[in-house]
Amino acid sequence: MSTFTELYHRAPEGEWAAPGRVNLIGEHTDYNLGFVLPIALPQTTRVQAARRTDGLLRLWSAQGGGPVTELRVDELAPGSVAGWAGYPAGVVWALRDAGHPVGGADIRLDSDVPSGAGLSSSAALECAVAAAYDDLYRLGLSAPELALLAQRAENAFVGVPCGIMDQMASMCCRPGAALFLDSRNLTVRQVPVDLGAAGLALLVLDTRVKHDLGDGAYAALRAGCEKAAALLGLPALRSLDAAGLPVALERLPDDLRPLVRHVVSENARVEAAVAALDAGDLAALGPILTAGHASLRDDYRVSCPETDLAVDAALAAGAHGARMTGGGFGGSVIALVDADAAEHVAAAVTAAFRAAGHTEPRTLTAVPAEGARRLR
Ligand code: GLA
Repeated sequence: MSTFTELYHRAPEGEWAAPGRVNLIGEHTDYNLGFVLPIALPQTTRVQAARRTDGLLRLWSAQGGGPVTELRVDELAPGSVAGWAGYPAGVVWALRDAGHPVGGADIRLDSDVPSGAGLSSSAALECAVAAAYDDLYRLGLSAPELALLAQRAENAFVGVPCGIMDQMASMCCRPGAALFLDSRNLTVRQVPVDLGAAGLALLVLDTRVKHDLGDGAYAALRAGCEKAAALLGLPALRSLDAAGLPVALERLPDDLRPLVRHVVSENARVEAAVAALDAGDLAALGPILTAGHASLRDDYRVSCPETDLAVDAALAAGAHGARMTGGGFGGSVIALVDADAAEHVAAAVTAAFRAAGHTEPRTLTAVPAEGARRLR
């Protein structure tokens, strides 16, 4: 595998890392300006970078496999860069479009965040590049400002209408804590999560079903929520709570009701999960996760047979709770388990997948890790 020096015949000015994430609870709430509760994964995307003065952006990815991609920063335009290079190029475009005086760079990327698994490999990539550019070009931007620029890269340059959760998680998470984020104003609170002390573990089961938010289903759901909010005369569905739900549902067409029911109940589940963590009652998270899955499966309809099977098999094997995490349509399932039962639960899910003829899931254990940072 090529080193930075082999690729660019000089040394990098530094190295930065940004993690993938799993969301504990709060799915499809971010673009409704509601609550989310993600943790960062130990898996990261690393960026080695050095500035260039000739306006060239040169990109190479250990996972991409191909030759160095060479772009001119002043020619970057939405939709102009296909594949993985669109994410780092999009960040440079978003910075320049916002008026920040940044030029080119030589960049080497490497990542151990599984891609297409609903674990935010794209946010990790965007945020690592954003952190590198912030330091190299001495921009002095805050973590939420960098997260917003990374989201803009994905929304406007790559063309995926994602919310702000993944980029905020990748930028702002702390070791040992979940990030309680209010998407309305980007205020955050670090909520301690000591799984080990509670004798618990968080399993992540990647169903290997390709997760692709670019295919229009995510955009359609988001549009449905925005339409419902407009019909109700609200700025966003966040403004609706459980007390107001029955009356609101009566005013909506049949197809929008389940979406609204999910968003309102999911915001309440995030608040309940935070209360459980604050009380040190980590096992109480279990039923909240499982209820969240039922809502995503039955109301929001972003589950699929493989994620349902992983949830059901984990619960049958003794998990305290389980649910799909991330955007849905495949991707990963999380299961809260007794630490000494983790292997048993993972084996039970694997056996259920084998029996159903599915590709075996990839399993990892999540511990709340650190957000974007400079490594050297
Ligand atoms: C994807 C998006 C996020 C969020 C989740 C669903 O991960 O990138 O912004 O909407 O789906 O909670």
